[in-house]
Amino acid sequence: MNLTNQYPSLKEKVVLITGGASGIGANLVEAFCLQSKRVVFIDILVDQAQKLISDLERKGLYTQPYFYKCDLTDIKSLKETIAKISEEIGTIDVLVNNAANDDRHDFREVTVEYWDERIAVNLRHYFFSAQAVYPMMKAKGGGSIINFGSMSWYATHGGMPGYTSSKAAIEGLTRGLARDMGADNIRVNTLVPGWVMTRRQLQNALADESARNKVRDSQCIREFVIPENISAMALFLASDDARMCTSQHFIVDGGMI
Ligand SMILES: NC(=O)c1ccc[n+]([C@@H]2O[C@H](COP(=O)([O-])OP(=O)(O)OC[C@H]3O[C@@H](n4cnc5c(N)ncnc54)[C@H](O)[C@@H]3O)[C@@H](O)[C@H]2O)c1
Repeated sequence: MNLTNQYPSLKEKVVLITGGASGIGANLVEAFCLQSKRVVFIDILVDQAQKLISDLERKGLYTQPYFYKCDLTDIKSLKETIAKISEEIGTIDVLVNNAANDDRHDFREVTVEYWDERIAVNLRHYFFSAQAVYPMMKAKGGGSIINFGSMSWYATHGGMPGYTSSKAAIEGLTRGLARDMGADNIRVNTLVPGWVMTRRQLQNALADESARNKVRDSQCIREFVIPENISAMALFLASDDARMCTSQHFIVDGGMI
Protein backbone atom coordinates (compact mmCIF):
# COMPACT_ATOMS: atom_id res chain seq x y z
CA MET A 1 0.00 0.00 0.00
CA ASN A 2 1.61 3.23 -1.18
CA LEU A 3 -1.02 5.65 0.11
CA THR A 4 0.67 8.00 2.53
CA ASN A 5 -1.93 10.67 3.36
CA GLN A 6 -3.36 10.60 6.85
CA TYR A 7 -6.88 11.77 7.66
CA PRO A 8 -7.10 12.37 11.42
CA SER A 9 -10.88 12.86 11.14
CA LEU A 10 -11.24 9.17 10.23
CA LYS A 11 -9.42 7.82 13.26
CA GLU A 12 -12.45 7.28 15.48
CA LYS A 13 -14.92 6.58 12.69
CA VAL A 14 -16.73 3.30 12.17
CA VAL A 15 -16.38 2.47 8.47
CA LEU A 16 -18.55 -0.13 6.73
CA ILE A 17 -17.44 -1.40 3.31
CA THR A 18 -19.65 -3.77 1.29
CA GLY A 19 -17.98 -6.34 -0.94
CA GLY A 20 -14.68 -5.93 0.91
CA ALA A 21 -13.27 -9.44 0.52
CA SER A 22 -11.83 -9.08 -2.96
CA GLY A 23 -11.09 -6.68 -5.82
CA ILE A 24 -11.22 -2.94 -5.15
CA GLY A 25 -13.10 -3.67 -1.90
CA ALA A 26 -10.10 -5.50 -0.40
CA ASN A 27 -7.92 -2.48 -1.16
CA LEU A 28 -10.52 -0.19 0.41
CA VAL A 29 -10.45 -2.33 3.57
CA GLU A 30 -6.67 -2.07 3.78
CA ALA A 31 -6.64 1.67 3.04
CA PHE A 32 -9.25 2.42 5.71
CA CYS A 33 -7.43 0.19 8.23
CA LEU A 34 -4.49 2.60 7.92
CA GLN A 35 -6.79 5.42 9.04
CA SER A 36 -9.46 4.10 11.36
CA LYS A 37 -9.61 1.78 14.35
CA ARG A 38 -12.93 0.26 13.38
CA VAL A 39 -13.24 -0.97 9.80
CA VAL A 40 -15.94 -3.50 9.03
CA PHE A 41 -16.62 -5.30 5.78
CA ILE A 42 -19.42 -7.45 4.44
CA ASP A 43 -19.11 -10.13 1.76
CA ILE A 44 -20.30 -13.59 0.78
CA LEU A 45 -16.78 -14.89 0.12
CA VAL A 46 -15.70 -16.27 3.49
CA ASP A 47 -12.38 -17.77 2.33
CA GLN A 48 -11.35 -14.57 0.56
CA ALA A 49 -12.34 -12.53 3.61
CA GLN A 50 -10.24 -14.71 5.91
CA LYS A 51 -7.32 -14.55 3.50
CA LEU A 52 -7.51 -10.76 3.46
CA ILE A 53 -7.56 -10.63 7.26
CA SER A 54 -4.53 -12.91 7.55
CA ASP A 55 -2.67 -10.98 4.83
CA LEU A 56 -3.23 -7.76 6.77
CA GLU A 57 -2.23 -9.48 10.02
CA ARG A 58 0.98 -10.69 8.37
CA LYS A 59 1.81 -7.13 7.33
CA GLY A 60 1.64 -6.35 11.04
CA LEU A 61 1.06 -2.65 10.62
CA TYR A 62 -2.65 -2.35 10.58
CA THR A 63 -5.76 -2.26 12.66
CA GLN A 64 -7.51 -5.55 11.96
CA PRO A 65 -10.83 -5.29 10.11
CA TYR A 66 -14.04 -7.00 11.25
CA PHE A 67 -15.78 -9.32 8.79
CA TYR A 68 -19.51 -10.11 8.65
CA LYS A 69 -20.82 -12.64 6.18
CA CYS A 70 -23.98 -11.45 4.45
CA ASP A 71 -25.61 -11.89 1.05
CA LEU A 72 -26.51 -8.32 0.12
CA THR A 73 -29.32 -9.46 -2.15
CA ASP A 74 -31.14 -10.60 1.00
CA ILE A 75 -32.35 -7.26 2.41
CA LYS A 76 -33.67 -8.75 5.68
CA SER A 77 -30.25 -10.27 6.34
CA LEU A 78 -28.54 -7.01 5.34
CA LYS A 79 -30.62 -5.00 7.82
CA GLU A 80 -29.96 -7.55 10.58
CA THR A 81 -26.22 -7.50 9.82
CA ILE A 82 -26.03 -3.70 9.96
CA ALA A 83 -27.94 -3.73 13.29
CA LYS A 84 -25.51 -6.35 14.64
CA ILE A 85 -22.47 -4.36 13.50
CA SER A 86 -23.79 -1.25 15.23
CA GLU A 87 -24.25 -3.18 18.50
CA GLU A 88 -20.95 -5.06 18.37
CA ILE A 89 -18.57 -2.56 16.75
CA GLY A 90 -20.34 0.80 16.88
CA THR A 91 -22.81 2.89 14.95
CA ILE A 92 -21.67 3.61 11.42
CA ASP A 93 -20.11 6.93 10.34
CA VAL A 94 -18.94 5.99 6.84
CA LEU A 95 -20.74 3.65 4.45
CA VAL A 96 -18.92 2.54 1.30
CA ASN A 97 -21.43 0.84 -1.01
CA ASN A 98 -18.93 -1.02 -3.20
CA ALA A 99 -20.27 -4.55 -3.86
CA ALA A 100 -21.52 -5.30 -7.36
CA ASN A 101 -21.35 -7.96 -10.05
CA ASP A 102 -20.58 -7.18 -13.70
CA ASP A 103 -21.27 -10.63 -15.20
CA ARG A 104 -21.90 -10.23 -18.90
CA HIS A 105 -25.38 -11.00 -20.32
CA ASP A 106 -26.93 -10.82 -23.78
CA PHE A 107 -29.97 -8.52 -23.74
CA ARG A 108 -31.83 -10.93 -26.06
CA GLU A 109 -31.73 -13.66 -23.45
CA VAL A 110 -32.52 -11.74 -20.26
CA THR A 111 -35.55 -13.05 -18.34
CA VAL A 112 -37.56 -11.10 -15.77
CA GLU A 113 -35.96 -13.19 -13.02
CA TYR A 114 -32.42 -12.49 -14.26
CA TRP A 115 -33.16 -8.77 -14.64
CA ASP A 116 -34.45 -8.60 -11.05
CA GLU A 117 -31.39 -10.49 -9.85
CA ARG A 118 -29.03 -8.02 -11.62
CA ILE A 119 -30.81 -5.09 -9.97
CA ALA A 120 -30.71 -6.86 -6.60
CA VAL A 121 -26.94 -7.41 -6.74
CA ASN A 122 -26.02 -4.06 -8.30
CA LEU A 123 -28.50 -1.46 -7.04
CA ARG A 124 -31.12 -2.47 -4.46
CA HIS A 125 -28.80 -3.00 -1.49
CA TYR A 126 -27.17 0.42 -2.06
CA PHE A 127 -30.46 2.05 -1.11
CA PHE A 128 -31.28 -0.25 1.81
CA SER A 129 -27.77 0.05 3.32
CA ALA A 130 -28.09 3.84 3.17
CA GLN A 131 -31.58 3.65 4.71
CA ALA A 132 -30.29 1.45 7.55
CA VAL A 133 -27.32 3.67 8.47
CA TYR A 134 -29.26 6.93 8.20
CA PRO A 135 -30.59 7.02 11.81
CA MET A 136 -27.13 6.22 13.17
CA MET A 137 -25.46 8.98 11.16
CA LYS A 138 -28.21 11.43 12.05
CA ALA A 139 -27.78 10.67 15.78
CA LYS A 140 -24.02 11.23 15.43
CA GLY A 141 -24.48 14.60 13.72
CA GLY A 142 -23.35 13.51 10.25
CA GLY A 143 -21.77 10.91 8.04
CA SER A 144 -20.51 10.05 4.58
CA ILE A 145 -22.02 7.61 2.10
CA ILE A 146 -19.94 6.67 -0.95
CA ASN A 147 -21.79 4.82 -3.71
CA PHE A 148 -19.70 3.06 -6.33
CA GLY A 149 -20.69 3.85 -9.90
CA SER A 150 -18.96 2.85 -13.13
CA MET A 151 -17.53 4.39 -16.28
CA SER A 152 -19.05 1.55 -18.31
CA TRP A 153 -22.31 3.31 -19.16
CA TYR A 154 -20.56 6.62 -19.89
CA ALA A 155 -18.40 4.70 -22.36
CA THR A 156 -21.49 3.01 -23.86
CA HIS A 157 -20.31 -0.48 -22.98
CA GLY A 158 -22.77 -3.16 -24.08
CA GLY A 159 -23.20 -6.75 -22.99
CA MET A 160 -24.41 -6.08 -19.43
CA PRO A 161 -27.56 -3.90 -19.48
CA GLY A 162 -28.62 -4.95 -15.96
CA TYR A 163 -25.27 -3.72 -14.63
CA THR A 164 -25.01 -0.51 -16.67
CA SER A 165 -28.63 0.44 -15.83
CA SER A 166 -27.91 -0.09 -12.13
CA LYS A 167 -24.71 1.93 -12.27
CA ALA A 168 -26.47 4.83 -14.02
CA ALA A 169 -29.30 4.67 -11.45
CA ILE A 170 -26.80 4.87 -8.60
CA GLU A 171 -25.95 8.43 -9.65
CA GLY A 172 -29.65 9.36 -9.38
CA LEU A 173 -29.84 7.63 -6.02
CA THR A 174 -26.83 9.62 -4.82
CA ARG A 175 -28.30 12.96 -5.80
CA GLY A 176 -31.73 12.26 -4.33
CA LEU A 177 -30.38 10.97 -1.03
CA ALA A 178 -27.86 13.82 -0.80
CA ARG A 179 -30.83 16.21 -0.83
CA ASP A 180 -32.87 14.12 1.64
CA MET A 181 -30.00 13.61 4.09
CA GLY A 182 -28.08 16.87 3.67
CA ALA A 183 -30.00 18.66 6.42
CA ASP A 184 -28.63 16.03 8.82
CA ASN A 185 -25.06 16.73 7.65
CA ILE A 186 -24.86 13.41 5.82
CA ARG A 187 -22.94 13.61 2.56
CA VAL A 188 -23.70 11.25 -0.32
CA ASN A 189 -21.41 10.95 -3.34
CA THR A 190 -20.74 8.59 -6.23
CA LEU A 191 -17.19 7.37 -6.84
CA VAL A 192 -16.83 6.34 -10.49
CA PRO A 193 -13.86 4.06 -11.16
CA GLY A 194 -12.31 3.74 -14.59
CA TRP A 195 -11.21 0.32 -15.75
CA VAL A 196 -9.34 -0.99 -12.73
CA MET A 197 -6.91 -3.87 -13.02
CA THR A 198 -8.29 -6.25 -10.39
CA ARG A 199 -7.63 -9.99 -10.56
CA ARG A 200 -11.20 -10.61 -11.74
CA GLN A 201 -10.87 -8.09 -14.58
CA LEU A 202 -7.55 -9.57 -15.62
CA GLN A 203 -9.05 -13.07 -15.61
CA ASN A 204 -12.03 -12.02 -17.69
CA ALA A 205 -12.38 -9.18 -20.13
CA LEU A 206 -8.81 -7.95 -19.89
CA ALA A 207 -6.96 -11.24 -19.95
CA ASP A 208 -5.41 -10.35 -23.26
CA GLU A 209 -2.43 -7.96 -23.12
CA SER A 210 -3.44 -6.06 -26.25
CA ALA A 211 -6.93 -5.47 -24.73
CA ARG A 212 -5.30 -4.12 -21.57
CA ASN A 213 -3.02 -1.83 -23.53
CA LYS A 214 -5.96 -0.57 -25.58
CA VAL A 215 -7.73 0.46 -22.36
CA ARG A 216 -4.61 2.20 -21.07
CA ASP A 217 -4.00 3.99 -24.36
CA SER A 218 -7.57 5.34 -24.40
CA GLN A 219 -6.79 7.29 -21.22
CA CYS A 220 -5.17 10.74 -21.04
CA ILE A 221 -2.76 9.39 -18.41
CA ARG A 222 -1.29 6.25 -19.96
CA GLU A 223 -0.91 4.17 -16.83
CA PHE A 224 -3.19 1.41 -15.59
CA VAL A 225 -5.70 2.52 -12.98
CA ILE A 226 -5.08 0.43 -9.86
CA PRO A 227 -7.28 -0.11 -6.78
CA GLU A 228 -5.15 2.27 -4.70
CA ASN A 229 -6.11 5.13 -7.00
CA ILE A 230 -9.75 4.45 -6.16
CA SER A 231 -9.11 4.07 -2.42
CA ALA A 232 -7.33 7.45 -2.39
CA MET A 233 -10.54 9.15 -3.54
CA ALA A 234 -12.68 7.11 -1.14
CA LEU A 235 -10.55 8.18 1.84
CA PHE A 236 -10.89 11.82 0.89
CA LEU A 237 -14.67 11.58 0.40
CA ALA A 238 -15.05 9.80 3.74
CA SER A 239 -12.99 12.36 5.62
CA ASP A 240 -14.03 15.72 7.04
CA ASP A 241 -11.73 17.36 4.46
CA ALA A 242 -14.55 16.70 1.97
CA ARG A 243 -17.13 18.41 4.20
CA MET A 244 -18.62 20.50 1.38
CA CYS A 245 -18.58 17.71 -1.22
CA THR A 246 -21.97 16.09 -1.62
CA SER A 247 -24.42 15.08 -4.35
CA GLN A 248 -21.58 14.73 -6.88
CA HIS A 249 -19.81 12.04 -8.84
CA PHE A 250 -16.02 11.81 -8.77
CA ILE A 251 -14.40 9.97 -11.67
CA VAL A 252 -11.03 8.25 -11.25
CA ASP A 253 -10.25 6.87 -14.70
CA GLY A 254 -6.99 8.42 -15.89
CA GLY A 255 -9.08 10.54 -18.24
CA MET A 256 -10.74 7.77 -20.22
CA ILE A 257 -14.25 9.21 -20.56
N1 LIG B 1 -12.87 -3.15 -11.62
C1 LIG B 1 -13.29 -2.24 -12.47
O1 LIG B 1 -12.70 -2.06 -13.53
C2 LIG B 1 -14.50 -1.39 -12.17
C3 LIG B 1 -14.88 -0.42 -13.12
C4 LIG B 1 -15.96 0.39 -12.85
C5 LIG B 1 -16.66 0.25 -11.67
N2 LIG B 1 -16.28 -0.69 -10.77
C6 LIG B 1 -17.08 -0.79 -9.54
O2 LIG B 1 -16.23 -0.85 -8.41
C7 LIG B 1 -16.80 -1.72 -7.42
C8 LIG B 1 -15.83 -2.84 -7.11
O3 LIG B 1 -15.52 -3.51 -8.32
P1 LIG B 1 -14.57 -4.78 -8.36
O4 LIG B 1 -13.99 -4.81 -9.74
O5 LIG B 1 -13.68 -4.80 -7.19
O6 LIG B 1 -15.66 -5.96 -8.24
P2 LIG B 1 -15.42 -7.50 -7.87
O7 LIG B 1 -16.48 -8.26 -8.60
O8 LIG B 1 -13.99 -7.87 -8.10
O9 LIG B 1 -15.70 -7.54 -6.30
C9 LIG B 1 -16.98 -7.33 -5.80
C10 LIG B 1 -17.05 -7.83 -4.36
O10 LIG B 1 -18.43 -7.76 -3.97
C11 LIG B 1 -18.80 -9.01 -3.41
N3 LIG B 1 -20.20 -9.29 -3.64
C12 LIG B 1 -20.81 -9.47 -4.85
N4 LIG B 1 -22.09 -9.82 -4.68
C13 LIG B 1 -22.32 -9.88 -3.33
C14 LIG B 1 -23.44 -10.21 -2.53
N5 LIG B 1 -24.60 -10.58 -3.07
N6 LIG B 1 -23.30 -10.15 -1.19
C15 LIG B 1 -22.13 -9.80 -0.62
N7 LIG B 1 -21.02 -9.48 -1.34
C16 LIG B 1 -21.12 -9.53 -2.68
C17 LIG B 1 -17.93 -10.03 -4.13
O11 LIG B 1 -17.85 -11.25 -3.42
C18 LIG B 1 -16.60 -9.30 -4.23
O12 LIG B 1 -15.82 -9.48 -3.07
C19 LIG B 1 -18.11 -2.21 -8.01
O13 LIG B 1 -19.16 -1.41 -7.56
C20 LIG B 1 -17.91 -2.05 -9.50
O14 LIG B 1 -19.13 -1.89 -10.18
C21 LIG B 1 -15.23 -1.52 -11.00
